[in-house]
Amino acid sequence: MATMESLIGLVNRIQRACTSLGDYGGDHQAFSSLWDALPSVAVVGGQSSGKSSVLESIVGRDFLPRGSGIVTRRPLVLQLQHIEQGQEEYAEFGHLQQRRFTDFSLVRKEIQDETDRVTGKTKQISPVPIHLSIYSPYVVNLTLIDLPGLTKVAVEGQPDSVVEEIENMVRSYVEKPNCIILAISPANQDIATSDAIKLSREVDPSGERTFGVLTKLDLMDKGTNAREVLEGRSYRLQLPWVGIVNRSQADINKHVDMMSARRNEREYFATSPDYSHLASRMGSEYLAKLLSGHLESVIRARIPSITSLINKSIDELESELDHLGRPVAVDAGAQLYTILELCRAFDKIFKEHLDGGRPGGDR
Ligand code: GDP
Ligand code: NA
Ligand code: MG
Repeated sequence: MATMESLIGLVNRIQRACTSLGDYGGDHQAFSSLWDALPSVAVVGGQSSGKSSVLESIVGRDFLPRGSGIVTRRPLVLQLQHIEQGQEEYAEFGHLQQRRFTDFSLVRKEIQDETDRVTGKTKQISPVPIHLSIYSPYVVNLTLIDLPGLTKVAVEGQPDSVVEEIENMVRSYVEKPNCIILAISPANQDIATSDAIKLSREVDPSGERTFGVLTKLDLMDKGTNAREVLEGRSYRLQLPWVGIVNRSQADINKHVDMMSARRNEREYFATSPDYSHLASRMGSEYLAKLLSGHLESVIRARIPSITSLINKSIDELESELDHLGRPVAVDAGAQLYTILELCRAFDKIFKEHLDGGRPGGDR
C-alpha cells in the first residue's frame, strides 16, 4: 500500500497554510472556523509545574527557554513530525522558513528573540503564536501548544493585570471544544489546588478532553505516593492520568541529556515499589504515544466536519477570485489562488483517508 501522509502531518500543513495566509486568512470566515475545527493539544499548568520539562521530554531535546518568572510569554505551536531513522533532525520556524536549525540551542535563542520582538523586553505577554516544526526520528507525530504558565501574582516589572491576561489567553485556547487539554500538576502539591485542574474543570467539566499529567513524583514526601491520583480516584477524568519524572534542576545543571533522562525515568517506574504495577502506562515516552494516538483518532472522527469547512473555504475563495477576475497577477489574487489549490489538495487527501482506512506512515 502506498504510504499516505499521516493525518496529523496533514492537519499540520493546513495549520501552516492558514497561518501563512496571514491577513488574507483573517478576512475569511470559513478559514477561521477551519482553524478552530482542527484538533490540537494545549499544555496547561501553573508556573514551575514542569510544563517545559514535559515538552522537552516528549521532543527528546533541550530547546525551550528557561528561567524563573514568566518565561513563556507567547503561545508556541509545536508541530512534531516523525522522520525515518538516519535522516537529519532539524527545526524550522513559521516566521523563518528559509532557515533550517540543527543546533537546538539556537532554537532556544530564536524563541527568546522572537518573543521579545513582539512583546519587547518588558515581560509583556502576547497572544500571537510562534510556530515551530521539529522533524526528528525520535518524535511521534503530534502538535502541542505551549502556553504561558498560570500564576497568582505578578512578578517585579509586570502590571498586576498580567495574571488575568495569562488566564484569559490560556482559557481562549482550552475553551474550544476541539482542544485536547494536557493538564500538568506537580505531585508535591495538593491536587485540589492545581491551577491546571481548576481551569480544566471549568471548561471541560465532564473530563472528556483532559489528560492529567502528574510531574515531580520523585519529589513527594517519603512515605506518601500518588496512586490515588494516578488511578483516577482523587480526580476523575475520562482520559488517563500519566505520571512523569522529569530532570531535576540539579540534573539540568549537570547537563544530563534528554536521552539519559528518558532512561532514568523508565528505570524509576520499573523499580518503584509504589508504581511498578503501573510502569507500562507511565512516563513521557508513553505519554507522547498516547497523545499521538488520541490526536489521530480525534482528527479521524472530525474528517467530515473538517472537509465540509475546507469546501466552504473553496467556495469563498472561488467567488472572491471570480470577483477579482481571472487571471489575477496581483499578489493577493496569486496567494488566494495558491490557497485554493491547497484546499482542493487537502480535500482530496482527506477523502483518501476516509476511503483507505489507516494510513501507513503514522508511527
Ligand atoms: P514550567 O515553569 O512549568 O515550564 O516548569 P519547568 O519545566 O521549567 O520546571 C520547573 C523546575 O522544576 C525545574 O527546575 C525542573 O528541573 C524541575 N522539575 C520539573 N519536573 C520535575 C520532576 O518531575 N522532578 C524533579 N525532581 N524536578 C522537576
Ligand atoms: Na508553568
Ligand atoms: Mg516553562
